[in-house]
Amino acid sequence: MLTTKLFSGFGLFLLGCFYFGKQMPHVIPGAVKVGDGVTEINEISQGEQEKWAQGKEIYTDFCIQCHGANGKGDVNNFPPLDGSDWLTKKRAESIHAVKYGQSGEILVNKMKFNNTMPPMGLSNKEVADVMNYIMNSWSNKQDKIVTEEEVAGIKE
Ligand code: HEC
Repeated sequence: MLTTKLFSGFGLFLLGCFYFGKQMPHVIPGAVKVGDGVTEINEISQGEQEKWAQGKEIYTDFCIQCHGANGKGDVNNFPPLDGSDWLTKKRAESIHAVKYGQSGEILVNKMKFNNTMPPMGLSNKEVADVMNYIMNSWSNKQDKIVTEEEVAGIKE
């Protein structure tokens, strides 16, 4: 049952926090947020949930003002991330865009955008976390996790 799943998932997460609390105190504030996000990310391991909790924070701090809380962007200026074919088909380019910024004409879901996303100065780990968050949010579902090493391998 979903509720049972949610409940045990959250319990596990709390246990995890308790367990890792000492080494990673910054994880704890995210715990509450993850609690309500568990519905979308039910079947994943503890470690991944923590990563995405951090990805969510990065998204809120750095991305939300342009791409929106619902990931739908704004048709005229900011491309969508929810359901974006760019994100699914151009994995390396997407990582590159988040790592170094992106400007010039691009086609996302057959819509043309020609604008600028500034580089945000995120670390490789932060880029990986936020990528995994956007690739697993809204209607998005990724099949391969973005690792810090993969981000490190994407050169300007
Ligand atoms: C100042 C506004 C702004 C911010 C902040 C911003 N973006 Fe963007 N983003 C854009 C624009 C504009 C484009 C398209 C650029 C172009 O036309 O070449 C874009 C393109 C993208 C793309 C590729 C196209 C797509 O829709 O799939 C991804 C992925 C992306 N952004 C993710 C992010 C993430 C993740 C963050 C936060 C870490 C972020 N963006 C922050 C404006 C922004």
